[in-house]
Amino acid sequence: MASKARVSICLSFIVLSLFVSSLTLISASEEEAKEFVLTLDSTNFTEVVGKSSFIVVEFYAPWCGHCKNLAPEYEKAAALLSSHDPPVILAKVDANEEINKELASEYDIKGFPTLKLIRDGGKDVQEYKGPREAEGIVEYLKSQAGPASAEIKSVEDAGNLIDDKKIIVVGLFPEFSGEAYENFSTVAKKLRSDYDFGHTLDAKLLPRGSAVSGPIIRLFKPFDELFVDFEDFHVDTLEKFLEEASVPLVTVFNKDPSNHPFVIKFFNTLNAKVMLFVNFDSDISDSYKSTIHDAAQQYKGKGVSFLIGDVEASQGAFQYFGLKEDMVPLIIIQTNDNQKYLKPNIEHPDHIAPWLKEYMDGNVKPYKKSEPIPEVNNEPVKIIVADTLEDLLNSGKNVLLEFYAPWCGHCKNLAPILDEVAVFFQNDPDVVIAKIDATANDLPADTFDVKGYPTMYFKSSSGELKQYDGGRTKEDIIEFLQQNQDKSAQKEEKPTKDESTKDEL
Ligand SMILES: *[C@@H]1O[C@H](CO)[C@@H](O)[C@H](O)[C@H]1NC(C)=O
Ligand SMILES: *[C@@H]1O[C@H](CO)[C@@H](O)[C@H](O)[C@H]1NC(C)=O
Repeated sequence: MASKARVSICLSFIVLSLFVSSLTLISASEEEAKEFVLTLDSTNFTEVVGKSSFIVVEFYAPWCGHCKNLAPEYEKAAALLSSHDPPVILAKVDANEEINKELASEYDIKGFPTLKLIRDGGKDVQEYKGPREAEGIVEYLKSQAGPASAEIKSVEDAGNLIDDKKIIVVGLFPEFSGEAYENFSTVAKKLRSDYDFGHTLDAKLLPRGSAVSGPIIRLFKPFDELFVDFEDFHVDTLEKFLEEASVPLVTVFNKDPSNHPFVIKFFNTLNAKVMLFVNFDSDISDSYKSTIHDAAQQYKGKGVSFLIGDVEASQGAFQYFGLKEDMVPLIIIQTNDNQKYLKPNIEHPDHIAPWLKEYMDGNVKPYKKSEPIPEVNNEPVKIIVADTLEDLLNSGKNVLLEFYAPWCGHCKNLAPILDEVAVFFQNDPDVVIAKIDATANDLPADTFDVKGYPTMYFKSSSGELKQYDGGRTKEDIIEFLQQNQDKSAQKEEKPTKDESTKDEL
């Protein structure tokens, strides 16, 4: 359970980080006058939501950078939508507040910000799957506020709905009743935050439509075969069809915002994700595109998804994976349990297929993101990186290790306190106080459960590992260490310290 939650934080984090650059560009203007976004907490949430036929709620945390980027856009959207008929209400809940934590867990909030579309006084809850800048939010929410599926009565209706950058699902029926139509409506209600739906009686209104007759579903997509027809109206089968048909063979990641929904979808799959990054401006990029297409075709249905990304749009991803621009063309694979595999500096597209085969056969060693090992490390609190973590954990000492993020305010407050603790234990060779930047180093997923920053773990010299959840004062931490440090493992009894430090093998 715990490790599942952690992975999903990572996933939403990476999806968000991918778009950081596009967000910060836009969030400039700030108007203070009136707040259009409603502030809710557990005392009035149920009442306000209960009265609303449609309300959008953002669950955020004050320390979360992506929430800060979203805030001005969200406010701008709320202002624009307040004059929509009927008005669309945007609200926010500080999920970090103690009194709102139960609410956040009720709504299954695992990362920040998370936005929920709540309908029918709270009976129908869906995930927000739209853009994160004001205009995009407005456009998406306008369509979410209307009916789940729009009737297409004319060529204009069809033109308004069917857009060549999105997935559009149109049901063609002989009449708007009967089981097939009902099932279509059920699916449209359920998946409306993912796709745009329409329904019509007239096949001639559909692009490339003329010769079909209903009931039939036609899915329009801006890639691959451009449209697919489907005639099975079982609810589950239909959902599965939409899920599969709406994913491009190779997802393209560049600066074009109309690709972003597909990128988000890509990062939400449970498949292993194969990502090829190249410079789209270089003349070699076409041959790489066609190579990765061939690979995607070859491994279709084998539990892997493919993406090709333009280096220029990918700073967020590069930072997240600890990659450098001079490594492109490169492939990085991320599995669902967060293992990574890297092939940097690919010299020729022909080298991709053999490497993928090696990976599929289980013959590629995982890649671990690590900061360089520091050349000097003589401050009281020792700096640990991914490449030195194992040595630390196997050192047979009593270790207190802080996982921090460079942007985290609570971590900055804790820093001088940890310094003092480290100075206090300076003359005890069996105690190590250390810290690791958890955003710049990969952690062994099955050992540490780091859901927020700072997180501290203690490993005693006899190998007992536990999360530190005591107070964050110097006195608290020192007392904890004094009580928990393993004295039995000292000097004269070295051999019993820790399995992995035994010398006899
Ligand atoms: C809900 O309650 C909080 C705190 O009590 C308050 O700040 C907020 O304005 C209230 N929201 C509404 C919509 O009444
Ligand atoms: C509608 O969906 C239900 C549930 O999946 C299924 O039992 C029924 O056969 C479907 N109707 C049609 C016409 O496909």
